[in-house]
Amino acid sequence: MLDHLDRAISLAAPAKINLALHVTGRRSDGYHLLDSLVVFAAFGDKVIVRHAKDDSFEMSGPFGCELPYDGNNLVIRARDALRQHFPGQAAPVAIHLEKHLPIASGIGGGSSDAAATIRSLAALWGIKAEPQLLAAIGLRLGADVPMCLRGRSLIARGIGEDIEPVAAFPPLPMVLANNGVTVSTPQVFAALEKRDNLPLPALPALQSVADVCAYLAETHNHMYGATAKLAPAIADTMDALRGTRARLVRMSGSGGTCFAIYDSNDDAEIAAARLRQRHPDWFVVATRSITEGSELEPHR
Ligand code: C5P
Repeated sequence: MLDHLDRAISLAAPAKINLALHVTGRRSDGYHLLDSLVVFAAFGDKVIVRHAKDDSFEMSGPFGCELPYDGNNLVIRARDALRQHFPGQAAPVAIHLEKHLPIASGIGGGSSDAAATIRSLAALWGIKAEPQLLAAIGLRLGADVPMCLRGRSLIARGIGEDIEPVAAFPPLPMVLANNGVTVSTPQVFAALEKRDNLPLPALPALQSVADVCAYLAETHNHMYGATAKLAPAIADTMDALRGTRARLVRMSGSGGTCFAIYDSNDDAEIAAARLRQRHPDWFVVATRSITEGSELEPHR
């Protein structure tokens, strides 16, 4: 019995990076149609679940104190949504969220936490559900949750739920940077000046970091203009990243986190160290995109 109660499952909730994000239309319900090349980073949050006598939820980590503990927290909403579907299997659980990703910052922290909660609780509760059912449960929590349930390189279309895995490309050395600018995703969508952009160009075989960056140079994040209008300070993050030896600098999602891609992990580490020195109050991490099955890096 004690063994059973002691069993813990710990899952990574990696940062989601929109390498390219094209806005291609709008549905009649107001949601936007997207075409986005997405990778996940070796840096992110962590969700740990274990059986318990009563439900509980706690948070730690540098951004753990910035989130609500109530039903507005996506982890709690994910637990409750899964339990609603499988009431007979959903015994009480203690959930711990280690929060390393800045809140509401365009790198899918909340969505990735929700996805990791669904996957870890499904394992803990012995739920054998089709991935499509878990994706449908996730989609009701947020448009990015289904892609975070996949957690590997993909193209997301529709409002984000129509997912096509892409052939693995090399891990991309990158720096994620956020100067504390906050934007509301719905407000950014509402401020878009153009919603009928072209979809992403066809994805060729990408064999090197240079190949990936050459492809990305033909693409955009169509949300950047609207974010910059609402929060002009986002340009400071872009400029700071451009001042490093980056091959490509772009905003992820609706911002405010921006990323830069480098030729090597060393270049990324050097760039991150310099940025941290100049901007000690910014969120800055050197990481790389993960290929399937990669482990989350330890936090430093
Ligand atoms: O789905 P999620 O809660 O992450 O989205 C937040 C808001 O962003 C939605 O309520 C919607 O206003 C907007 N959104 C959108 N088109 C998408 C995804 C989100 O307009 N594809």
